[in-house]
Amino acid sequence: MENVVILGLQWGDEGKGKIVDLLAPKYDVFVRFSGGANAGHTVRFEDKHFALHLLPSGIIHPGKICILGNGMVIDPFSLISEIETLKSQGVKINGNLFISEKAHLVLPHFQILDRLREQGKTPLGTTGKGIGPAYEFKYSRTGLRMGDLLYEKTLKEKLKNTLSPLNFLIKNYYNAQEVDIDTTYSNLLSISEKIKGYLVDSTALINSFISFGKKILFEGAQGTLLDIDHGTYPFVTSSNCTIGGVFTGTGISHKNIQKTIGVMKAYTTRVGKGPFPTEIAPPLSDKIRNRGNEFGTTTGRPRRVGWLDLVALKYAVSLNGIDEIALTKLDVLDELLDIQICTKYRERGTEIYSLPSQWEITEKLVPEYEILPGWSCPTTATRSFEDLPKQAQKYVEYLEENLGVPVKWISTGPRREETIFR
Ligand code: GDP
Ligand code: IMO
Ligand code: MG
Repeated sequence: MENVVILGLQWGDEGKGKIVDLLAPKYDVFVRFSGGANAGHTVRFEDKHFALHLLPSGIIHPGKICILGNGMVIDPFSLISEIETLKSQGVKINGNLFISEKAHLVLPHFQILDRLREQGKTPLGTTGKGIGPAYEFKYSRTGLRMGDLLYEKTLKEKLKNTLSPLNFLIKNYYNAQEVDIDTTYSNLLSISEKIKGYLVDSTALINSFISFGKKILFEGAQGTLLDIDHGTYPFVTSSNCTIGGVFTGTGISHKNIQKTIGVMKAYTTRVGKGPFPTEIAPPLSDKIRNRGNEFGTTTGRPRRVGWLDLVALKYAVSLNGIDEIALTKLDVLDELLDIQICTKYRERGTEIYSLPSQWEITEKLVPEYEILPGWSCPTTATRSFEDLPKQAQKYVEYLEENLGVPVKWISTGPRREETIFR
């Protein structure tokens, strides 16, 4: 048995989609356990380009089973539109997709609330997909779950109980247009016809796959520093996108995970607001952004760009118990003469080796860097570690030594084939 978890070690967009796609032939079942359509996972090979938001990246591989776990929050309209887009791209979705009855619904009102808040004085830079409100309603025990779509009679009453106070807030606090609950109800009824067939007890299903010896890949969304508990709060998402989320978000035992792979870029990016100690200023940030095509897969927003942050990465490795690293986007550094790596911070003169829990302090940290020489030549066509320029090999070895984890994959381009396996 070898079940594996893939997690982002930074602020998301590390290239998880690409790594899941690479590993896909070895696994039978692909499970998402947290987040929702705030995720955007890209898979590219030959002339094909897929953007996955709610469905696990394994879906594009024929014959693989895909499961959306109970820890997710799902907008049923986005779900159907994603399924239709994928089908139009030739992906077979027929009898191979299962969705937890316990996953929470993202309702249109939640997206409106998310966007209204973002127009206020302290925006977080969310994706506007209603993720925060969906988890808020889950934890206040007034949310609706996918399984509620199965019971037409009680659905309307539940919607009213949940949405009436929200409409009051939208109208009276935000001075915005309420959303008619009856219309929401009838839209949900019609979309639910397309969804009912996918709904299952996903915990029982995953555990039965485990007992039959199927190999399972758990696909993380977002990244460690966006975790609601362990990230740079409040500039985080609203779920546990670190290792614990796998267990609560699926209902499997920790005994059934054999390996945890952390995905990290060879530098750092973050979309949205919040502290970012190693952020690079223009014009170098623009150069890296353009070279790395650092624009959000979900919202198209330009990603902020920074140097690698070893302090944050050590934290992510230890928090998640990372066994192996997949290093992506090495090629984006190809033209740089020097590469900086943050090894510690300074706060009002004092050396700091961990991320403070208050964002106000994190924002003022002064990063201290080690400078490694660049390699100034292209790496995208390289297929073996030994063929990488010596300085690039040194960069990888430096990371392995400092993080104490082997770098097993080095990605040197967006396509499946642009990868070195060690
Ligand atoms: P995810 O959310 O972690 O799956 O990452 P995204 O798909 O949102 O963002 C990663 C972006 O980088 C995508 O556009 C990928 O196609 C691209 N990408 C992945 N690996 C590499 C790489 O090694 N080099 C380059 N240049 N692009 C890459
Ligand atoms: P993947 O899976 C990068 C960020 C948003 C914002 C914060 C809160 O593609 O790596 P939310 O809409 O979740 O309430 O937004 O979290 N964010 C991501 N950033 N990649 C993601 O997912 C993200 N999902 C959420 O930009 O800063
Ligand atoms: Mg992404």
